[in-house]
Amino acid sequence: MVHVLLRRNWIGRLRLALTLFGLPYTVCTPGVKYVTDNNVTQSQLNATHVKARCSQYPGSDVRRFPVPDDKVNWSQSWAQYNPVRYTSLAVLKKPVWADPDISSFSPKFNTVDGAVDRTSFEGSYKEENGKPLNPHGRTGLSGRGLLGRWGPNHAADPIVTRWKVDERGTKIHHSVSKLPILQFVAIKRKDCGEWAIPGGMVDPGEQVSLTLQREFSEEALNSLAVQPSERAQIHERITKLFKSPGFQAFKGYVDDPRNTDNAWMETVAVNFHDDSGNSVSELPLQAGDDAGQVQWVDVDSSFPLYASHSSFLELVAKERKAHW
Ligand code: BGC
Repeated sequence: MVHVLLRRNWIGRLRLALTLFGLPYTVCTPGVKYVTDNNVTQSQLNATHVKARCSQYPGSDVRRFPVPDDKVNWSQSWAQYNPVRYTSLAVLKKPVWADPDISSFSPKFNTVDGAVDRTSFEGSYKEENGKPLNPHGRTGLSGRGLLGRWGPNHAADPIVTRWKVDERGTKIHHSVSKLPILQFVAIKRKDCGEWAIPGGMVDPGEQVSLTLQREFSEEALNSLAVQPSERAQIHERITKLFKSPGFQAFKGYVDDPRNTDNAWMETVAVNFHDDSGNSVSELPLQAGDDAGQVQWVDVDSSFPLYASHSSFLELVAKERKAHW
């Protein structure tokens, strides 16, 4: 625990120093990994914004107002705080996935508002001047940035795994940890070029279980582009796996680079494991929708991943007693 806090402080200070000197650190912040041990929950790890304070806001030239570690929490009064206001053009154009501007509608926060779930996994969040306040504190940017919803924006992350086997079907063990190696389906995101779990946003009114399956089909099996007959086959095969009781690795707030003071990401990450290797493992992977590439990747702590995805995989590896 002490080790974790020291490490986080160190990273926070380095990032703050870079911000104060006006040096950009990466938009998607590859390779920043969360160290977990059994006493530390993911939400404690996410307590201080790291990616959500990245100097340059993703997909823009906008720079966040620098927020030092000790001013992240809203409970620290800070009269000089002057966050940059930014909502991307794509969001302002009012696509179906985005809310209108706050002046032109009255969302019901902390509740399921029509089909839109505005509740947070973090419990009740506050409002200030009619706008929801990020429950994890200041980000240096107000408005919605790239996010469509005021308040929580809900995503779902399907972690599909199998064992790594040799040509005779025997599990391969890691030379150092001596533990069997898991593989998971990873996509290379088109937006930032980072490897990631093939997750996506929960549609209004959609059950998370359905989002998990839909996103996996669209991004890793390219179900949107295949013939209807083939699509039915894919659907049948993966429904079996996704109906199995998955292991919920994470549910909560995500320290995402797109977060703002008034809009933030939350996700549910669930592991579906093809233990025998003859279910989804046999389906040909094909990148689709937001994915540029797709492949089975060994689960290993050294592989850099998007947002908090590495920490989800660590929990899966521990649960399955696999190499990390
Ligand atoms: C991504 C998820 C990710 C979430 C939070 C979503 O846009 O599709 O994979 O976990 O954002 O970072």
